[in-house]
Amino acid sequence: MPIDFNQIETPCYVIDEQLLRNNLAIIKKVKEAAGVEILLAFKSFSTWGVFPIFKEYGFGASASSLNEARLAFEELGVKTHIYAPAYQQREMADILRYCSHISCNSLVELQRYREMAQREGISLGLRVNPEFSDTAYDIYNPCKPGSRFGITAEELGDALPAGVEGLHFHTLFEADSFALEQVLAVFMTKFGRFLPRVQWVNMGGGHLMTGKNYNIDHLISLLADFKGRFAVNIILEPGSAFTYQTGYLVATILDIVEHQGIKTAILDVSFTCHMPDCLEMPYKPTIQGAVDEKQGRPTYRMGGICCLAGDYMGNWSFERELHVGDKIIFEDMIHYTTVKTTMFNGVNHPSIGLWNEQSGFKVVKEFTYHDYKNRLS
Ligand SMILES: Cc1ncc(COP(=O)(O)O)c(C=O)c1O
Repeated sequence: MPIDFNQIETPCYVIDEQLLRNNLAIIKKVKEAAGVEILLAFKSFSTWGVFPIFKEYGFGASASSLNEARLAFEELGVKTHIYAPAYQQREMADILRYCSHISCNSLVELQRYREMAQREGISLGLRVNPEFSDTAYDIYNPCKPGSRFGITAEELGDALPAGVEGLHFHTLFEADSFALEQVLAVFMTKFGRFLPRVQWVNMGGGHLMTGKNYNIDHLISLLADFKGRFAVNIILEPGSAFTYQTGYLVATILDIVEHQGIKTAILDVSFTCHMPDCLEMPYKPTIQGAVDEKQGRPTYRMGGICCLAGDYMGNWSFERELHVGDKIIFEDMIHYTTVKTTMFNGVNHPSIGLWNEQSGFKVVKEFTYHDYKNRLS
């Protein structure tokens, strides 16, 4: 039974439970077959209303802030692995309460928090920078020269600082296993000398193992080989892979305006507020039933509901003319989208819903004026 988008009050993010479960099953298979630990990176998705589904699959969590660590503890029931470019001294006692592993970004940070972490029995790691990434997008490349992330092999020298039990690197973005293979070759050359002295290696995120042509078997064999060779625990902390292609942002056309020959469908959603990566990265999202601009077909820009002049994207062509009241369904709007929204202009925040074959559509969360008001004072 396909989702009946017409019965959904917009704006609304709709998570398709079966698509989500398909992803979780793939990731669980990798975890078990390779004998590694796989954590959900909370920065990509933290809609805790659906965490009961995640809990069935037994994943841990990785956090990048105290808030994420606390949410993982409270709603997923796990102690997290945390990494942040720097920690706040005043938050450290709480961070240590919610975490099992903490990775520091610099030797200064390591020195600052080593004793405290050791006292609490937290495993200490160091983020290293292999200075290699195959990502084509600068905004997602943590290995650019001068990057603030991690210590390079040259800076680290030959001595692993006291107390360090693990190494953490993150270099990939929506990458395949062959990109990981390249990163591992560089990592082993640059940091291999430390591997006999650590207990774990966190290989960060960017492993899009739920993507269409991802070679899961290759990933499993890479990880299993690495683990066998160095006898370390391997940790992956993908974000996107968990909720990649698992849902939609459903919008309604409120008006259609035409100026200088350009037709714009004005929607009850906003790119800047509700699909910020489209403008930030930037990328053109897929709309169900539409194609890239095609001569001879009804063609429209999609205009956001906020007053930012640049809050629009174009152009899409449709089979027929669009009308006020038509639904526009943006594909793949769950990972990194629901966590990055804003209430700029006070526009309505889309509700969040879950759809499955058995129960149909259920609203998980609705937003009201009070959510808008409570962010401010
Ligand atoms: C340190 C770290 N770990 C994990 C992730 C998750 O990456 P992805 O969602 O691309 O899998 C990120 C993303 O920025 C990250 O910075």
